Amino acid sequence: MSKVPIITIDGLASSGKTTISKSLSNHLGFYTLDSGILYRAFAYIKSVENIDKFMPDTVTKIINNMKMVPSKNLDFNIVYNSDDITGNLYNEVIGLQASDISKNEYIRDALLSIQHACVQMPGLIANGRDMGTKVFPDAELKIYFTANIEVRAKRRYEQLIKSGSNPNLDNIRKSLEQRDQKDMNRDVSPLKAAKEAIIVDSSELNIETILDKILGLYKISRV
Ligand code: DC
Repeated sequence: MSKVPIITIDGLASSGKTTISKSLSNHLGFYTLDSGILYRAFAYIKSVENIDKFMPDTVTKIINNMKMVPSKNLDFNIVYNSDDITGNLYNEVIGLQASDISKNEYIRDALLSIQHACVQMPGLIANGRDMGTKVFPDAELKIYFTANIEVRAKRRYEQLIKSGSNPNLDNIRKSLEQRDQKDMNRDVSPLKAAKEAIIVDSSELNIETILDKILGLYKISRV
């Protein structure tokens, strides 16, 4: 059987990983794994089930009831106890809580098999913090995204406005900075570029330019 191609995109919060993953998926027809939703799901479940601390047996029980279901759009939705909880995960409070939870090594290890199960033909674009360093070390192409904090805060702000919220730019900036510090400084699988990753600064570049660059790199990686 031929190997399923994988492109990993790691990087800072709101650096454009999800947008570029979607565009790449549209071009290549690959599935997209937005791995942050797994940590966000744990944060959500913690609050709705009033879980104080994640003990190993609780984590195992949660994982056994959690499924990543491929969608028509080639991404994955999270189904927990037969409910699709994906729509409850995208707010900044859950993002910060997810960052705290993601320090838990037991949870990170338990999530590996769920992430590996997302690998399917014709290919996978996996975005997150440790896709290239830990989850898919043999990926064809590894990209590391960065962008300055003002640009990232503004992007996040505009996304939230579009989704009907009433965000505060200063709070978003602080929250993103806090999250980056936590993600980069944790002991287990900290956010960092894989040795062989290509660094892309998306502060000034537009989406088409970045897309062309990554598609070009992907072509080269296949020869
Ligand atoms: O990509 P995101 O904003 O949805 O991620 C939310 C948090 O989940 C992020 O701040 C850290 C954690 N995370 C992680 O530790 N490893 C990943 N591969 C993806 C996300």
